[in-house]
Amino acid sequence: MFSSSVPWCLIAASSLLVNAQNLSSSFPHDYPGKPSGDLSPAWQTYFQVTSPLPNISFDLGRNWAGNIPVGRANSPNDTLFFWAFEKDNGSLTAAAGELNDEPWGIWLNGGPGSSSMLGMMFENGPVHVADDLSVFQNNFSWNKLADYIWVDQPVGTGFSTVDADGMVKDEDAMGQDFMGFLANLVKVFPSLKTRPFFLTGESYSGTYIPYITKTYFGLTDPPVNLRKIAIGDGTLGSGFVFEELPTIQVIETYPQLIGYDPQVYDYFKGQAHLCGYDLNLTYPQTSKFPTLNPPDIPGGSDSKTFMTSKIKSKSALMEAAHARFAQHVSENQGLSKRELEEKRDLVAIKRDEWLMEKRDLTGRGNDSTIDPFYGCLIYEEMIDYALNFSIPWNLTTSQGLDGFDVYNVPDALNPEAPMDASFFFNNDTSRTALHAPTSKNWTDSVRYHFGGPGGQDPSIEPMAFLDELATNATNRNVSILIYSGNDDSLVAHRGSEVVIQNTTFGGIQGFTRKPSTPWFDDDGNFAGIVHQERNWTFVLIEGAGHLVPQQQPERAFVMLREFILGSNQTGLVTNSSGSVSVVGGESTSLYANGILPGQDGVFAGSGTTQSTFTYPTASIQAWASFTATAIPTAPPTGGGSTSQQSSAGNVGYWKGFEALMALLSIAMLNLVAV
Ligand SMILES: *[C@@H]1O[C@H](CO)[C@@H](O)[C@H](O)[C@H]1NC(C)=O
Ligand SMILES: *[C@@H]1O[C@H](CO)[C@@H](O)[C@H](O)[C@H]1NC(C)=O
Ligand SMILES: *[C@@H]1O[C@H](CO)[C@@H](O)[C@H](O)[C@H]1NC(C)=O
Ligand SMILES: *[C@@H]1O[C@H](CO)[C@@H](O)[C@H](O)[C@H]1NC(C)=O
Ligand SMILES: *[C@@H]1O[C@H](CO)[C@@H](O)[C@H](O)[C@H]1NC(C)=O
Ligand SMILES: *[C@@H]1O[C@H](CO)[C@@H](O)[C@H](O)[C@H]1NC(C)=O
Ligand SMILES: *[C@@H]1O[C@H](CO)[C@@H](O)[C@H](O)[C@H]1NC(C)=O
Ligand SMILES: *[C@@H]1O[C@H](CO)[C@@H](O)[C@H](O)[C@H]1NC(C)=O
Ligand SMILES: *[C@@H]1O[C@H](CO)[C@@H](O)[C@H](O)[C@H]1NC(C)=O
Ligand SMILES: *[C@@H]1O[C@H](CO)[C@@H](O)[C@H](O)[C@H]1NC(C)=O
Ligand SMILES: *[C@@H]1O[C@H](CO)[C@@H](O)[C@H](O)[C@H]1NC(C)=O
Ligand SMILES: *[C@@H]1O[C@H](CO)[C@@H](O)[C@H](O)[C@H]1NC(C)=O
Repeated sequence: MFSSSVPWCLIAASSLLVNAQNLSSSFPHDYPGKPSGDLSPAWQTYFQVTSPLPNISFDLGRNWAGNIPVGRANSPNDTLFFWAFEKDNGSLTAAAGELNDEPWGIWLNGGPGSSSMLGMMFENGPVHVADDLSVFQNNFSWNKLADYIWVDQPVGTGFSTVDADGMVKDEDAMGQDFMGFLANLVKVFPSLKTRPFFLTGESYSGTYIPYITKTYFGLTDPPVNLRKIAIGDGTLGSGFVFEELPTIQVIETYPQLIGYDPQVYDYFKGQAHLCGYDLNLTYPQTSKFPTLNPPDIPGGSDSKTFMTSKIKSKSALMEAAHARFAQHVSENQGLSKRELEEKRDLVAIKRDEWLMEKRDLTGRGNDSTIDPFYGCLIYEEMIDYALNFSIPWNLTTSQGLDGFDVYNVPDALNPEAPMDASFFFNNDTSRTALHAPTSKNWTDSVRYHFGGPGGQDPSIEPMAFLDELATNATNRNVSILIYSGNDDSLVAHRGSEVVIQNTTFGGIQGFTRKPSTPWFDDDGNFAGIVHQERNWTFVLIEGAGHLVPQQQPERAFVMLREFILGSNQTGLVTNSSGSVSVVGGESTSLYANGILPGQDGVFAGSGTTQSTFTYPTASIQAWASFTATAIPTAPPTGGGSTSQQSSAGNVGYWKGFEALMALLSIAMLNLVAV
């Protein structure tokens, strides 16, 4: 796989950008039988997928697909592509007012610019594409629990069509388009107007979904009946919050990243402190966290000039990092780390000897100075460290950072197995059956061109209006669920927990008790942590990375059934005549310090030849003794952090950062599979 870090994708993505950056106009295709006039239930027959799909021999149940306009005036070609699957025969085509207690849902992937058909084909849809491009049935498809619709959005993404100048300029425009789409969708499937609606998605839809919800709250007569939003590994906070801040927790979850080396840990911990990333979560949280404004971001964090050049800067930064460490190792050893490793039996190496060979903190900052090279980009620094100095990550090509999977830390496979649905979607048989446009080809991701400088999304991160959103949600009876795969490093769970503790909902800031209740999948296996207060739910999924339903399909399915669609009370804080308790109990050790330890083994080799690398028991044990004293396990108490300087924030910079994410997704989704 590829990975990583921003730089790699920049390089890999640049070739995609030539085609992707300026989308030419596209428009829906008129297939035979298209009704004339406005959308209505008569269109169900038109949209129904009746001809056979390539490679699919199993029964998909009834399903519908095609393009539906977002309803902009005089812009019929600005549409969203949907593929809908019903739960029960007849459920999606119920008449207006029928099945009023039956939930339905929509799934959105992120990017920005990623097609939700990726989610359908690799995460939670009924049809999945295998490594060899054959197709198989997913037993944990989300439409087994509710009518479910996968939607490519914003306009221009996936099979969605767009006028040449029709790309949404910002997230408010995105929200309006989405409402327009929903208003048209319910004309085709009228029962959806009043049935309980669940809006779910992942990654950059952590930006989309709050904005869509905000737009919804602004309507006096909204087109649907929103009941809950669920956001997985989502970009709710600023880039500093979701990507840089959690670096320490990512290391604590996977100390393999630093070779279980306490000295390296102390180093990173010191950097995190100097950069203001060590926000202390307390329960309750008594004051708002300041806006993160790290003192040192290479290239500067606030100038507009940097905004337009930062991609290059950051890329150059990482390239230089590669050169620097590769050269250092080779000068010192005459051999690369990898070559050294290959020449010996790791388990037999004396730990100290090994450390001396691989460790390199030369020239880096210390407890009182920020590293002059990385500044406060400690996430990138960590990836660089892992690739250069930690087994089994492998720095291979001259280009970028393949070998580190930002989406799934314990996956050092290189290359990854392919993850490619383009043969399926661009096959003419599929295209015709799905009523997909002929004016464009399906790609899993485009670099979405917003209205900000350089095509970036100029909208502020949802954290900025979450208090208001939460108040609206309480008033309108909309619940909020935030979940995370424990093994994701790109949008790691710590960032989401910071967002929760920084939000006032139900009149109180954050959770009042530390999440610490286990939940279990249908096989009775420990599945992670769940916590619920005042209609906000946090779910941590053990053993999953960024793409939770891909890596833990059953756990994702149980989460949907119990905590998203259902109102399972596990983890719910209750207060009965002053006596506070938590359904399912609290475990002080399980999630001590907000860390759910990762697996010992790291997947190594390639997508087709896998093995697992596990560090010597002695390393693991030594680390355990170190953390027992160095990392306090008692939950911090008392007031929130106040020592950070506050500022208006570097919105522009971080919007740009999200664009970097976009690139990352483009590259990753093209090339990464798990
Ligand atoms: C894309 O469009 C912008 C202006 O909208 C233009 O400056 C740029 O050259 C175009 N890029 C390509 C690759 O056509
Ligand atoms: C599309 O799929 C059909 C059915 O599997 C197959 O016969 C056809 O060759 C495919 N077309 C292309 C261009 O691969
Ligand atoms: C929409 O696309 C059609 C091609 O099917 C084109 O003829 C028409 O001009 C487009 N409409 C607008 C408003 O751009
Ligand atoms: C679904 O229902 C329709 C009529 O309501 C019926 O004709 C059809 O056979 C049913 N299909 C299945 C798979 O049960
Ligand atoms: C909250 O609701 C009001 C309407 O009551 C709306 O104007 C506002 O945009 C909403 N804000 C958010 C963040 O949901
Ligand atoms: C915390 O929330 C406030 C708004 O209430 C916001 O200004 C600040 O940036 C947030 N802090 C973090 C670290 O996200
Ligand atoms: C590291 O990468 C190189 C080059 O791709 C490859 O030859 C080697 O087998 C890899 N080593 C491991 C342990 O993956
Ligand atoms: C069908 O599956 C085969 C592998 O079994 C694959 O080569 C082919 O590309 C697939 N066709 C489509 C249209 O997805
Ligand atoms: C789609 O891809 C095919 C094969 O690469 C190409 O021939 C065709 O022109 C593309 N269609 C569009 C609309 O870009
Ligand atoms: C709630 O969900 C948990 C999953 O951890 C499950 O074990 C339990 O049976 C569910 N409770 C109810 C009442 O369904
Ligand atoms: C949570 O939502 C349910 C139904 O939507 C509502 O009945 C209940 O009062 C809410 N609880 C709190 C604490 O807001
Ligand atoms: C968090 O707590 C630690 C230990 O008490 C302290 O050193 C650190 O400064 C605190 N962080 C912030 C941002 O206040």
